[in-house]
Amino acid sequence: MQDRPRILVVCFSRSGTTQRLADMLAATLPADCETLYEREGPRWRSGTRGYARSIVDVIAHRRANLRPTMHDPSHYDIVVVGTPVWASCASTPVATWLAAHHRQFRHVAFFCSLGGRGSEKAFEQMHASVGLSPLATCAVTGADLRAGREHALVNEFAHKIRHRLATLETIEWTM
Ligand SMILES: Cc1cc2nc3c(=O)[nH]c(=O)nc-3n(C[C@H](O)[C@H](O)[C@H](O)COP(=O)(O)O)c2cc1C
Repeated sequence: MQDRPRILVVCFSRSGTTQRLADMLAATLPADCETLYEREGPRWRSGTRGYARSIVDVIAHRRANLRPTMHDPSHYDIVVVGTPVWASCASTPVATWLAAHHRQFRHVAFFCSLGGRGSEKAFEQMHASVGLSPLATCAVTGADLRAGREHALVNEFAHKIRHRLATLETIEWTM
């Protein structure tokens, strides 16, 4: 690892919440940031139809049609992946991206935004998909947002990521 760890934040956001958390996190760490987009465009997921489509997609384990991304995850010490929770799962675009890139990760951390329930199941699914235990996780609920707790949660998450990476680096040096 170099002096400063190379960190990539990757997220999908249907209505902007996860994107906002990803931007905060990337500025705090600091990190490069990649947003996942679908070829169909944002309207594909918007409104009542988009909501219903998203529920069906996630329950049926469908794959998203993602646009190509710019950053190569294998160039980073850690990839921090953020998703909205859909039916207690990672959103379809994030599940698709993780399945396509799981061999390219050195370390991972996960975050999600959600109404209130299902973050643990979503994190378990993401963990199983990449075959790596996350160094840290962070779930931001609607109640957290209403109470203005998101900055504190994101700061704490960023601190945990940096601390765990530093610990791993020390272990690697002493081996
Ligand atoms: C299709 C769909 C399914 C959802 N399922 C859940 C759920 O199981 N649990 C939950 O707490 N919130 C659920 N939500 C709410 C979102 O996780 C929450 O609003 C999130 O912050 C949206 O993030 P975004 O603005 O980045 O898209 C769901 C939202 C959508 C669109």
